Amino acid sequence: MDSQSLTKKDLLGLNELDREEIELILDTARSLREILYRPIKKVPTLRGKTVVNMFFEPSTRTQSSFDLAAKRLSADTVSVSTRGSAVQKGESLLDTLLNIDAMKADAFVIRHWASGAPHFLARYTKAAVINAGDGTHEHPTQALLDILTMQDRFGSIEGLDVLIVGDILHSRVARSNIFGLKKLGAKVTLSGPPTLLPEYFQDLGADISYDVDEAVKDKDVIMALRIQKERLEEAYFPSIREYRKFFGITIERLRKAKENAVIMHPGPVNWGVELDFDLLQERESLILNQVTNGVAVRMAVLYLFIKGEKES
Ligand code: CP
Repeated sequence: MDSQSLTKKDLLGLNELDREEIELILDTARSLREILYRPIKKVPTLRGKTVVNMFFEPSTRTQSSFDLAAKRLSADTVSVSTRGSAVQKGESLLDTLLNIDAMKADAFVIRHWASGAPHFLARYTKAAVINAGDGTHEHPTQALLDILTMQDRFGSIEGLDVLIVGDILHSRVARSNIFGLKKLGAKVTLSGPPTLLPEYFQDLGADISYDVDEAVKDKDVIMALRIQKERLEEAYFPSIREYRKFFGITIERLRKAKENAVIMHPGPVNWGVELDFDLLQERESLILNQVTNGVAVRMAVLYLFIKGEKES
């Protein structure tokens, strides 16, 4: 693995990476993934390095997989969140970073409700800053793990027909996936209620369809997104029941996609809303494959972005 070919200090979004950089991360993830299947799931690669997880929004998958990824590579880990830190006493985000940075960290993994928070903090530290989801902007490691999962199943992303359904407006996952998938040659279609799918998403190179029954036709991948109740301050659709009726992925809708089409979801899933419960009896879902690949992708990202001497 050639860590010299990634020259960027930070991973802030897939919009900023080119195809070769994305492929390097995916190749590295594929290579490191076998460590997860060893009896002793640990290598000394990042021994002596320190990874700080700063999570100012709830997380199950991203936080635990970054923590596990760092530990699998023998890095030391520290976690800072709103609860239990001096943030509760009013300490600013920047002061929090500067103080932890003074303890000599090598990487900060940052999730924040404000779009652009990791970009702002990256200017104040020499350590690598990894965006673990910023507001409604980007979630680069989620898209990388999604793309790795699609590659595992279909071999190549080139020419793949991917449908992303749901709350596109608030989705950092959709944005990062559009950037990454388009750079690797996929066709991306977006579907959802018009209130949650503004036409300007076409400018990112995606097709738009407000009729999910039409949109699912001939797709290889159907990725449903979570209805983000915490970001829905206004009524974007009349009711959850109505959302499911018009945009939920049901067995009837899935049958209109390609015969070998797969279901994906970044999680957490609102079962019975974005995805029907009985879908899993009809067709294989890749949702837990996505979670496993999340550890591999985050190992690759930490490996590639943490600079300096590493053990082999
Ligand atoms: N997909 C995702 O970001 O999940 P978490 O919010 O649990 O990290």
